[in-house]
Amino acid sequence: MKVIWITGGSTGIGAATALKFAENNWKVVISSRNLDKLNLVKEKIINKTKQSNVFSIKCDISKKNEVINTINRIESEIGNINLALLNAAAYSPNKSQEFEIENFELLIDVNLKGTINCIYALQNIMEKRKSGHIAIVSSPVGYRGLPTAAAYGSTKAALINLAESLFFDFKKKSIKVSIINPGFIESESTKLNTFPMPFLKTSEFAANKIYQGLTKKYKFEIFFPTFFIYILKFLRILPYRVYFFIIKKFTGL
Ligand SMILES: NC(=O)c1ccc[n+]([C@@H]2O[C@H](COP(=O)([O-])OP(=O)(O)OC[C@H]3O[C@@H](n4cnc5c(N)ncnc54)[C@H](OP(=O)(O)O)[C@@H]3O)[C@@H](O)[C@H]2O)c1
Repeated sequence: MKVIWITGGSTGIGAATALKFAENNWKVVISSRNLDKLNLVKEKIINKTKQSNVFSIKCDISKKNEVINTINRIESEIGNINLALLNAAAYSPNKSQEFEIENFELLIDVNLKGTINCIYALQNIMEKRKSGHIAIVSSPVGYRGLPTAAAYGSTKAALINLAESLFFDFKKKSIKVSIINPGFIESESTKLNTFPMPFLKTSEFAANKIYQGLTKKYKFEIFFPTFFIYILKFLRILPYRVYFFIIKKFTGL
């Protein structure tokens, strides 16, 4: 049985993806900071799938030692990690263009440094085995700068850049790297948004796309819903003058 470790498995996309992999006979390890919430997700998955290969471990990804201990626990008690879905993230939409340093610090600590803690510990064990797949959940917000998204967007842009670099570096170690860029998905995070969210999808939709993307033929980037992301990819290649004009027009900011 293959083993997947999902960070941020207590809610939203992480919890839905955990169910999807469990339904398809993977051993699933979910982690986050809140063990009670994780255990509720675990119970739900066990009730739905009638199989008990779901494990919950408390792990704050911004703490390097917790991450290393979690990975060691999974490897010794559950099995070799074949696939890691680095999905945990903090999200706090700026309500204005205020430059809030605490928000930057939090999002950099969790989204960027936390994900790097996971990659650091995973590559040590995957390199020795010469196999493994690390999938990083970013966001199309990282494609280009958007108004009021400086803190969250810059962490997600950094993750895309990081994954692109690691695609080359880890190839030599036989470790696969993927980046996942979802559009708007219903979750605890998007409940905080007060702006319209075009092409909003459910976390089950995201889980299906992630499962297909990670288990079929290897792909570097997994993105959905396709039409919405193609629009954002098109905006990415426009010259600054045109890009700034369009974004100002649509956001009124
Ligand atoms: N929803 C969307 O529209 C959307 C779009 C693009 C990208 N994404 C990305 O998709 C991923 C999942 O998002 P979501 O919408 O499902 O978010 P969510 O429901 O808010 O879930 C975030 C998860 O991260 C965990 N987490 C937060 N801080 C953590 C920390 N320091 N250590 C460990 N776990 C931590 C939370 O669990 P605890 O609170 O229990 O720790 C929770 O399980 C994120 O990377 C997000 O940026 C989401």
